Amino acid sequence: MHLIRRNRILRASAAIREMVAETILRPADLIAPLFIIEGSGIKEEISSMPNYYRMSIDLTVAEVKNLWGLGIRSVLLFIKCADELKDNTGAEALNPDGLMQRSIKAIKDACPGMVVMTDVALDPFSVYGHDGIVNGTEIVNDATVEVLAKMSVSHAQAGADIIAPSDMMDGRILAIRQALEEEGYSRTGIMAYSAKYASCFYGPFRDALDSAPGFGDKKTYQMDHANRIEAVKETLMDVEEGADIVMVKPAMAYLDIIREVRNTVDVPVSAYHVSGEYAMIKAAVKMGWLDENKAIMESLTGIKRAGAGLIATYYAREAAMLMNG
Ligand code: PBG
Repeated sequence: MHLIRRNRILRASAAIREMVAETILRPADLIAPLFIIEGSGIKEEISSMPNYYRMSIDLTVAEVKNLWGLGIRSVLLFIKCADELKDNTGAEALNPDGLMQRSIKAIKDACPGMVVMTDVALDPFSVYGHDGIVNGTEIVNDATVEVLAKMSVSHAQAGADIIAPSDMMDGRILAIRQALEEEGYSRTGIMAYSAKYASCFYGPFRDALDSAPGFGDKKTYQMDHANRIEAVKETLMDVEEGADIVMVKPAMAYLDIIREVRNTVDVPVSAYHVSGEYAMIKAAVKMGWLDENKAIMESLTGIKRAGAGLIATYYAREAAMLMNG
């Protein structure tokens, strides 16, 4: 054979492969989700998320410093609300002294450089485990948006850098942007969960926060996994309404959506490698069926290659350690 083009030349050694690699993951690409609980010195493993923990504020702060040292530049906060504080109005979500608000302050005090992102949705605070206010079997849109806007202002007041609404109510990005402006928080950003699908892959997360829906499912507000054009519509609308960053969620079953969105919008695109995706790798590793480090890097590189410049992942710390060598 006298071939003119031999593609294997550029794959021949680790050095040449590194030279021509098209996608390079960096620790700063990763967003570390954190689950926070009341108390001190508390660290509870989440049963369906091996080696991932709910931690009290003090241990969370230590972990944030650790992540910063590894080159991670953002954390995404979720709190586990006590059952007795849950209701159907989201009152506790607005408590200036609530667990979320105290966590934001503690983290910003200890590690001011870290970009603190906060989850905005009512499910951790809802007696029904739904992302909005419930009336009968309906998840009410407009009344929920009002609370979400107040909740966002409360997070900004506590020091949050970026508000991350994960609820999929209509019109919430505009309402949140306007509320932030009215209260003088013009430097607080919004990362919109724009194309968030109703997904079975959130199962372990709902164990982590004890926030599974008490009735029905989330299909009247989260997207149908059959749809692609709708994801483009949702993200374009969120950008128009003021989203600084848009998100596709979950990640690995939606790589086509990530690419489509990346080709469509002019803002950073993030993807959420969700709890079920983490759990699947963990389970296969436990069975001896996958090499964990390789599975982490291949998954996250694939998500970045698809078009996500930012990736929220429960493997943030491990991945950063692998990148740092
Ligand atoms: C709640 C929320 C969910 C996740 C992030 N924010 C769960 C849901 O919508 O039911 C999922 C994260 C994960 O599975 O890792 N609004």
